[in-house]
Amino acid sequence: MVEENLPSAKGLSPWSGGPPGRPQPLKDISGSGEIRYRIGIEELDRVLGGGIVPGSAVLIGGDPGIGKSTLILQVLDRLSRKGHPVLYVSGEESPQQIKMRGERLNAHESNVWVVSETCLEEIHKILHDFKPLFLAVDSIQTVYTGELGSAPGSVSQVRETAGRLMVWCKKTGTSLFLVGHVTKEGTLAGPRVLEHMVDTVLYFEGERGHAFRILRAVKNRFGSTNEIGVFEMKDSGLEEVKDPSLLFLSERPVHVAGSVVVPSMEGSRPILVELQALVSPTNFGVPRRTAMGVDPNRVSLLVAVLEKKAGLNLLNQDIFINVAGGIRLDEPAVDLGIAAALAGSFLDRPIPAQTVLFGEVGLTGEIRAVSQSLVRLKEARKLGFTRCLLPKNNLERLTKLEDMELTGVSTLGDALKVLF
Ligand code: TYD
Ligand code: MG
Repeated sequence: MVEENLPSAKGLSPWSGGPPGRPQPLKDISGSGEIRYRIGIEELDRVLGGGIVPGSAVLIGGDPGIGKSTLILQVLDRLSRKGHPVLYVSGEESPQQIKMRGERLNAHESNVWVVSETCLEEIHKILHDFKPLFLAVDSIQTVYTGELGSAPGSVSQVRETAGRLMVWCKKTGTSLFLVGHVTKEGTLAGPRVLEHMVDTVLYFEGERGHAFRILRAVKNRFGSTNEIGVFEMKDSGLEEVKDPSLLFLSERPVHVAGSVVVPSMEGSRPILVELQALVSPTNFGVPRRTAMGVDPNRVSLLVAVLEKKAGLNLLNQDIFINVAGGIRLDEPAVDLGIAAALAGSFLDRPIPAQTVLFGEVGLTGEIRAVSQSLVRLKEARKLGFTRCLLPKNNLERLTKLEDMELTGVSTLGDALKVLF
């Protein structure tokens, strides 16, 4: 608990100004049509829902060193090349440091305006003179207003400075990018309230050891959430990965027990990923259960179902599950894949090559239908898979698919019988 002294409400300068609000019927409000600025980085445009909406605020969160500043500079560079006035306010790096990064990114010749400043009042003056169309603040945790006594990065500072920047941007139609730090626990440092204030929250994820970076929309007022963009960190900055399935499967061992391929929907796009399981007898004490990339609770549930409904004795086994490539899957449609990987590793039998599987597993061992089965199948076929195990209910609703052998299953027991 940290005590914070807040000045009285009337002591704060009102940034908003403008005429007071007046209610009006929706039909009388003139629509501006949908204006969006496309950045030209397809993976990002899609995550944003088709480009940046004028006046919107986008929060980009992620662990230190994941590539937030790199992404921001690449975005601003693209936008400035289209002739828009863009301003990059950095509280963490000097203009020289930004220039150095720009050189790596081939952006040093661009017309991005850069300033190193952390005082909100000064930033306000700069904005007033410069009038950017796109503004990036890196990071919001470094910005402070002199009107509050607390330190930069504290709850009230982050809320107040972000709030005022957003009001200014909404009023002038400036699109705002805020960079936010993420704590170890995976929440945004400073107030969670920031997530409620902004229009779009993007999280930059990825394992330290991997070059892949995944940009995930966890909130989007102007598009669908759960949309992901896949990037690869290269020497010259972040590069889009246009065909993520190919990338995630590139190192897949073939014909090995415990490895399965599942088509998972990430937003509007199907991605094929490899799931790996390792099941081995516990040496002593309590068996270990470790899941990376999937929900550990989901894995426990599937282990219990395999025990009870499929008769696999997993009670005294250590269990490890991993999703190759460092991507995270939260769809129930990967249940069947997890169960099959576990069973495969336990029985030490590989799953027939060129097979993919998907389906939700219920507590009684039933396989439930999932959405978008055709899209998943087409992605699998595109990558050369010829066989698919899917929920019976999905199969009944599908029209026949060429070059693909489809097997409908209604229980987990059936599925294991077909596979092993
Ligand atoms: P950075 O954007 O500074 O991360 P953040 O702002 O999220 O803290 O990214 C830093 C990392 O990215 C650093 O480990 C070096 C790496 N990197 C590259 O591999 N290639 C590049 O072209 C750049 C600019 C950075
Ligand atoms: Mg940074």
